[in-house]
Amino acid sequence: MTENRKAEHLRICLTEDVQAKKVTTGFEDVHLVHKAVPEFGLGDVDTSISMFGEELRAPIIIEAMTGGTPDALKINSNLAEAAEHFGLAMGVGSQRAALETPRLIDTFRVVREKGPNIFLVANLGLPQIVANNGVEAAESAVEMIKADALAIHLNSLQEAIQREGETEFHNSLERIGEVVSRLSVPVIVKETGAGIAMEDVRLLSQTGVKAIDVGGAGGTSWAAVESYREAGLKHRLGVTFWDWGVPTAISVAEAASSTDLKVIASGGLRTGVDVCKAVCLGASAAGLAYPLLKPADVGQLDHALGILIEEFRTSMFLIGAKNVVDLEQRPIVITGKMAEWLRLRGLSPEAYARRQKSHD
Ligand SMILES: Cc1cc2nc3c(=O)[nH]c(=O)nc-3n(C[C@H](O)[C@H](O)[C@H](O)COP(=O)(O)O)c2cc1C
Repeated sequence: MTENRKAEHLRICLTEDVQAKKVTTGFEDVHLVHKAVPEFGLGDVDTSISMFGEELRAPIIIEAMTGGTPDALKINSNLAEAAEHFGLAMGVGSQRAALETPRLIDTFRVVREKGPNIFLVANLGLPQIVANNGVEAAESAVEMIKADALAIHLNSLQEAIQREGETEFHNSLERIGEVVSRLSVPVIVKETGAGIAMEDVRLLSQTGVKAIDVGGAGGTSWAAVESYREAGLKHRLGVTFWDWGVPTAISVAEAASSTDLKVIASGGLRTGVDVCKAVCLGASAAGLAYPLLKPADVGQLDHALGILIEEFRTSMFLIGAKNVVDLEQRPIVITGKMAEWLRLRGLSPEAYARRQKSHD
C-alpha cells in the first residue's frame, strides 16, 4: 500500500545511510572566483528572485519529500511554516497516497494552511501521469493544496528496484504534453537523484513544461533507499545502482545549455555555496531535500535554513554579485572530471571561465 511504503521511506531516510557513496555532485569541480575588491557592502546583497511571477527571498526550494502517512503531518507542517517565514518555495511529496486514500489529504493540505503565501508545488510520479486517469489525477493534486505549479517526478531507477515498482513508461512525453495543455498552472519535470541529460531536456522542452529540475546524482540515492526495503535480487540491484546517474552540477550545465526553460538544481546540494555554484552554472533556483528532513522532524529548520541563506548571501558578496542576475555573468572555473565530461559532450567549460571579463 502506498501509505505504508511512504512511512517506510521516511523511516529509512531518517535512520539509514541513503547518500551517494562513490558518485559526487560535480560541484567540487566548480570553482567560484573570489573578488577581492567588491565595491559594495554585504548589506547591499539582494538574494531575491522572481519565480513564475512570484517573489522568493532566495532562489531556494524545499524539495518534494513527504505527505501521505500520519508521520508526515508534523514534517510538512514544519517545512511549510519555515518556507513561509523565509520566503522560500516548497514542494510536497507524491500525492498519490492521498488520491487513493482521502483521509490522508490533511497531511498535504496542512502545507497550504501553514504556508498561505508560499510558492507551492504539487507532486505526482510519471507512472501516475502515464496511467489512464493521469490528467484528472494531476488536476486533483493541484486543487488539493491550491498549488502554484505541478512537479511530475521521474524515478525510473527507483521503480526498477522497488518490488512493487511501476516500470511502464510508454508515451511518457505525449502524456506529459496532455497534462501541460490541461492544467492552469506551470508544470515542472523533476528527476529524483539520477539527473537529466541534454537529450532528454530537449525532448521535454517540446512538451510545453516550464521548468526542468535536474534532481541529479551525488545526494540522496533512491536505489539505496529501496535496497533497505528489499531482499535477494532487488536488494542486490539497489546496491549495484546505488551511485547511478548524471551528477547534479553536470546535469545543470547540460540542461542550461540546451533549453531556455527554467532549470532547477537539486540532488546533493548541501550548502549555500553549492546553491551559488548552481546559479552560476545557469540554474534559476536550487532545491534541497535530505538536509532539511531531520531538522523538520525535530523542529530545527530555522537554524538550518538561516545558515543556508547566509552562506548563499556571503558567497554572492565574495564573488562580487550584488543580485542574483549578476551571478549569471560571474566567471567560474570548471576543472577535473566535470570539465572533461562537458568537453566530451560538446560543451565549453572555457566559456564559463571567460565570461564577462570586460565587466571587471
Ligand atoms: C524522504 C524523502 C522523500 C522524497 N519523496 C519524494 C517524492 O515523493 N516526490 C519527489 O518528486 N521527490 C521525492 N524525493 C526526492 C527529493 O525531492 C530530491 O529530488 C532528492 O532527494 C535529491 O535531493 P537531496 O540530495 O537534497 O535529498 C524525496 C526525498 C526524500 C529525502
